[in-house]
Amino acid sequence: MEPRDHPQPENGEADALVPSIAGTAAGIIRRPPDARIVFAHPSERELARIFDFFRIPWRYEPDSFVLKAKGERVLEMFSPDFYLPELDLYLELTTLRQRLVTKKNRKLRLLRELYPDVNVRLLYRKDYQELLAKYGFGPDEVLSPEVEAFRAEAGADQILFSQAEIASMVRRLGETITLDYAGRPPVLVGVLKGVSFFLADLIRQVDLPVEIDFMAVSALGTGGAVRIVKDLDVDIQGRQVLLVEDIVDTGMTLRYILGHLERWQPAGLEVCALFDKRTRRLADVPIRYVGFELADEFVVGYGLDYHQRYRNLPFVARLRPERYRPDPSA
Ligand code: IMP
Repeated sequence: MEPRDHPQPENGEADALVPSIAGTAAGIIRRPPDARIVFAHPSERELARIFDFFRIPWRYEPDSFVLKAKGERVLEMFSPDFYLPELDLYLELTTLRQRLVTKKNRKLRLLRELYPDVNVRLLYRKDYQELLAKYGFGPDEVLSPEVEAFRAEAGADQILFSQAEIASMVRRLGETITLDYAGRPPVLVGVLKGVSFFLADLIRQVDLPVEIDFMAVSALGTGGAVRIVKDLDVDIQGRQVLLVEDIVDTGMTLRYILGHLERWQPAGLEVCALFDKRTRRLADVPIRYVGFELADEFVVGYGLDYHQRYRNLPFVARLRPERYRPDPSA
């Protein structure tokens, strides 16, 4: 956080002729990965805790960037507080003191000029508080009501997959599908509603001329047996079909839908599910592409709901069992 003491310049006329390492690969000084972490400020520790909670890998002050040098003699350098490898982003936190902010802004400008490939952001106090709020921490007045409700009901220690983890899994699935279906682009079929989030993200990671379509089935408790309430618009006869599911639990919904789709005689029919609760399976359904395996737990977020709530949480979190399992002693 605070400016550190940097090596001071020494006088030496000859140095003026030596090319400076500032802005070159030699001007990036790496810290040993096993170096002990000593946070300079409590807010850095808090931020590290948040990254851990959301399973976002981080490194503390891993690299120093030489901003001014005479040859190899460093006159000024800058060490951003954090590096987030998954986001390829350096973060620098600022204090409230304007004098330091101005100084940091100057260093940051210099860093961006000298190392244009480096992605670095200054987090002002306000940005930092908003970040905390978005994830359910910090002063109540900036909390999103949905995240606040989730915290109160489910507990904030229940996040299973961060936004970044989900995005990277969706990317990986998309790349595999692109390779597997090269030359025979599939129709991606989603079963409403929860899958719409995953499907929308997945299709953008599939580099093929694909089509999408949606189906809907009646929910349990709406009377009678399961039935199709919205069928396909696209004719899938003789086509490659990839059924995309958000989550497969007992497998009963999937079994019913696969049976229905097979009647259209597609050329191929495979399944891609972002989440798979394999241990709960009752109907044995083949799933070609699985994102994450889950234990026997109820999850919400990223399209998954509990009584139509929490679909819009950016992460996927476990709901406390007492929320959905009746207390046997009651
Ligand atoms: P299945 O027929 O038992 O495999 O259930 C699949 C459907 O149940 C999914 O498409 C979801 O709508 C819902 N579901 C199953 N597990 C969960 C969960 O953990 N969270 C939210 N919805 C779930």
